[in-house]
Amino acid sequence: MTDKSERIDWADEKWKHHLIGPRKFMLRKDTRTLIAQWLDITPGMTIVDVGCGLGYLGYTYWEFFGEGGKYYGVDESEELIEEAAELSGNWAVGGEAHFKSGDAYSLPFEDDFADIAICQALLMHLDDPVEVLKEMKRVARPGGQVVSIEPDNLSASLHKPYTSIPELTMEEELFRNKITLICYKGRLKLGKGDYNIGVKIPHIMKELGLDDIDIRLNDQVCFVEPPYESEMETEYIGNRKKHFITEQFEFELEETKKEFIAGGGDPQEFEEFRKLAIRRRDVIKQQLDDGNFSICHSNQLFYIRGTKPA
Ligand SMILES: C[S@@+](CC[C@H](N)C(=O)[O-])C[C@H]1O[C@@H](n2cnc3c(N)ncnc32)[C@H](O)[C@@H]1O
Repeated sequence: MTDKSERIDWADEKWKHHLIGPRKFMLRKDTRTLIAQWLDITPGMTIVDVGCGLGYLGYTYWEFFGEGGKYYGVDESEELIEEAAELSGNWAVGGEAHFKSGDAYSLPFEDDFADIAICQALLMHLDDPVEVLKEMKRVARPGGQVVSIEPDNLSASLHKPYTSIPELTMEEELFRNKITLICYKGRLKLGKGDYNIGVKIPHIMKELGLDDIDIRLNDQVCFVEPPYESEMETEYIGNRKKHFITEQFEFELEETKKEFIAGGGDPQEFEEFRKLAIRRRDVIKQQLDDGNFSICHSNQLFYIRGTKPA
């Protein structure tokens, strides 16, 4: 397993903000209903959420299973578990929500415990996602489901979004993609997880003997245009501005450097990348201040389900 020092502490503010702002507009309301129907989530179900963070999956789908239902959030972070339990007072009405600190590789539940064992944005950070999927299969009841919601961030990073900032030259574009691919290799070497995992899970589920494997893609699109009238736009602009006035930008750049070096990248080349990133940051910052920044891009968030054979 990953050396503790390389593991992300999701309770640290540098990471925790990912579990709050972006979660607000992760899923369209109509899509949430479609996903709940697709997963056949019904009142009274027992759902185990592995790597639950602040309980996002609990409060997002509670309206579909909460009446008489049982939600068990598990996370290795005791700090997050405590906070999630406190927050659940606002949403877990009519059923039970329990939070346990525990390890995804050794879940604190007996065999066949849950109707659904689910995780979101967990496997992408683990060095052995297959073992965790096996563990989720153990905990799901026969005929129950193992569900995984994971992005393919590698492919998303190689997409070309529309933005209001000047286009990169062909050389710069290729250079940036090279950095992305080297960092991807570096993350794997550091045991920080597979950012390409979303597209691999259906195959892994098949290998693990799950039945009726089915896949959906989140249809949320990030579309931000002045004068930023929607709630999503306001949230996005606020987050981006904060990103640049705090140390977050430098912090993320240093994380990228560690991955780049671990992936076999040349430190000098990284300094070229740093210059490019800072130049782009300054243009975006100016456009944010002037109120003329815009962007349109999709994510690659996969919903994958498989049934445990009866
Ligand atoms: C990116 S967060 C996702 C949280 C939540 N599922 C969500 O989508 O908002 C990943 C979570 O997995 C937890 N985690 C990472 N490795 C774990 C492990 N081995 N066992 C249990 N939880 C783990 C982290 O503490 C963190 O809360």
